[in-house]
Amino acid sequence: MLKGRSLIEPGDFSLEELELLFSLAEKIEDNQDYLRCSCAGKVLAALFFEPSTRTRLSFEAAMLRLGGSCLGFAEPGSSSAAKGERLADTIRTVSCYADVIVMRNPKEGSALLASRFSAAPVINAGDGGHHHPTQTLTDLLTLRRLRGGLGNCTIGFCGDLKFGRTVHSLAKALAGYPGVRMIFISPPELTVPEYITRGILEKKMVPHGEAERLEEVIGDLDVLYMTRVQRDRFFNEEDYIRLKDFYILTAEKMKAAKKDMLVLHPLPRVNEIAPEVDGDSRAVYFKQAKYGMYVRMALLASILGAV
Ligand code: CP
Repeated sequence: MLKGRSLIEPGDFSLEELELLFSLAEKIEDNQDYLRCSCAGKVLAALFFEPSTRTRLSFEAAMLRLGGSCLGFAEPGSSSAAKGERLADTIRTVSCYADVIVMRNPKEGSALLASRFSAAPVINAGDGGHHHPTQTLTDLLTLRRLRGGLGNCTIGFCGDLKFGRTVHSLAKALAGYPGVRMIFISPPELTVPEYITRGILEKKMVPHGEAERLEEVIGDLDVLYMTRVQRDRFFNEEDYIRLKDFYILTAEKMKAAKKDMLVLHPLPRVNEIAPEVDGDSRAVYFKQAKYGMYVRMALLASILGAV
């Protein structure tokens, strides 16, 4: 069903297609030999114009576990982008060598542009502050696996909600499930964009609210989605320094949370979750990183027609 398809934003796949993808990822987690070698002979190109640990390495791990091979670059300085090559030309060329392209690029809309010039499917691994759909797949699989389903929960998004593409993508995706309520917790300078609140949540009648202090709302949450204030998205250092430690989740703050509240974070974290929280069974961000590999295995196998 997903064979040959690109993934540029979360809405590219229907709820039914997502269900199939998550079922497949769960099957792979339960049986690590399932689909092993199913992508033998296929090549993944990972083009990372911005830094990454989880997304790039989990895609590469996923492809290797499926029996395929990987090529690409981890920073644009080692590619002909450094000589001024246009993205369209890079993509046209790489799609001669690879069966699927995974790309992260700082420019919003770059993944869509790439998909228009590529002979191979393109997976958006983050385009500026816009979307990061495979992080959304990771987050949804984590919630499905650890909460037993999607929907019927109050989720608090905390931190940089203005530039946080993972928040934008997840809020958009969760808006499609029943019984979801969202609370956006941020300083006034980093509030969630109106295209999410007015453009999506109000149209879909998803209950949502805003708060400035995490302590005021933490007790209401079933899921707390923490995010980092991203230095790379700020135009001036002064604003970054002022806002970077606005929220720090500590063991003390966790005392006010529900006993089964889950703490997710797309990672990397800087200071926003104190390391003392890592040992709390509700802190599931490293499990989340592992689910990212399983869902990317399911995605690659589906796009490459191995299932
Ligand atoms: N979550 C995420 O995108 O992490 P990386 O930046 O390490 O890929």
